[in-house]
Amino acid sequence: MNLKKSRISLLKSFEQQFGPGPRPRAALAPGRVNLIGEHTDYNGGLVLPMAIDRHTAVVFRPSEEPYLCVYAADLKERAAFDLTKIERIKLPTQSWENYLLGTAWALKEKGVGLVGGDLLITSDLPAGAGLSSSAALEVAVGLALLALAGEKMDAQTLALCCQRAEHEFAGVRCGIMDQTVVARAKAGHALLLDCRSLEVTHVPIKLKGLSFAVFDTGVRHKLASSAYNTRRAECEHAAKVLGVKSLRETNLDAQLKALGKLSAAEERRVRHITTENARVVQFASALKRGDANELGYLLKASHTSLMLDYEVSCSELDDLVYELVSPCCGKDPCPGARMTGGGFGGSVVALLKTNNFSACRGAVAELAKGGCMLLSPGEGAKVVAL
Ligand code: GLA
Repeated sequence: MNLKKSRISLLKSFEQQFGPGPRPRAALAPGRVNLIGEHTDYNGGLVLPMAIDRHTAVVFRPSEEPYLCVYAADLKERAAFDLTKIERIKLPTQSWENYLLGTAWALKEKGVGLVGGDLLITSDLPAGAGLSSSAALEVAVGLALLALAGEKMDAQTLALCCQRAEHEFAGVRCGIMDQTVVARAKAGHALLLDCRSLEVTHVPIKLKGLSFAVFDTGVRHKLASSAYNTRRAECEHAAKVLGVKSLRETNLDAQLKALGKLSAAEERRVRHITTENARVVQFASALKRGDANELGYLLKASHTSLMLDYEVSCSELDDLVYELVSPCCGKDPCPGARMTGGGFGGSVVALLKTNNFSACRGAVAELAKGGCMLLSPGEGAKVVAL
């Protein structure tokens, strides 16, 4: 989101909704694209996402009452929440209200003294495209609520609260990748996260004449969140059979000992996790060297593994990857591409020559029904003056 451009219109819409008063501030949280390390986060593994230049903004101002009065500008919906009555709800759904309530609840559980405020939410992140619009909403809401309360929290603790909101209120047992990169990314860098120790290494992205881009299939699978939870359960069961805490810890000896005890599908899940973790290390290393061929090779290998071993791709994602890496319609093939995010629809991330982007866009227009964008690695969430 270009704040310079949207500042005035944000202030205007805020005043229209909540009337004149002290100047509000805004919490701005980016979306993310995961470059590599898919479905490894909830297996204690490694991931390498980067923040992108699309955001969710929560414009906020304190109020006297113990209520959050919220206007979801893109949906033109209003809601009010009584802060004295925020409790865990029984039927989790993925509505915007639940992400907001879940985050408020998780902060309260952490001891934050929530206070009332007026909030306007708007975003230029497409929902369901695999770009973490939900984590951006949670982190932006979290930062706004902390600022209203006049409290500080380190970025990783905030990310953990937001993950808890997603588990308890949205019903998705997601890992910690999305909330962490949204909260902790550094401009110009990808974020190498060890999901077991939560240790972060910022890896500079310096690729001469090359960029990452996302191409959105436009496919949104209704069953994506239940399939996601099923994959997670399969991995947890496999880890138990292999006698390890998480699949991060498994190795050939553990697998030899458990010979014949895993189903064929579970063996494929284990193979994806172990090979994908290795690819993350190799990708970070290739990024440092600026080695486009190796990066491309690893992207393609990751996609194949997600398609065949982890079984979270779909024909629309496969077709898009195939077209992008093939020499078609007079364009150079991209060095590599793969599905990104949870899968079952959503987007493909590709490495391409920057000045080849328009040709690629044209060549895959039929397949990238949800649109596409060239990416530059952005910074993590922050509160700004308007
Ligand atoms: C979703 C989840 C993440 C991660 C990815 C798959 O984006 O929110 O925690 O598991 O899927 O890598």
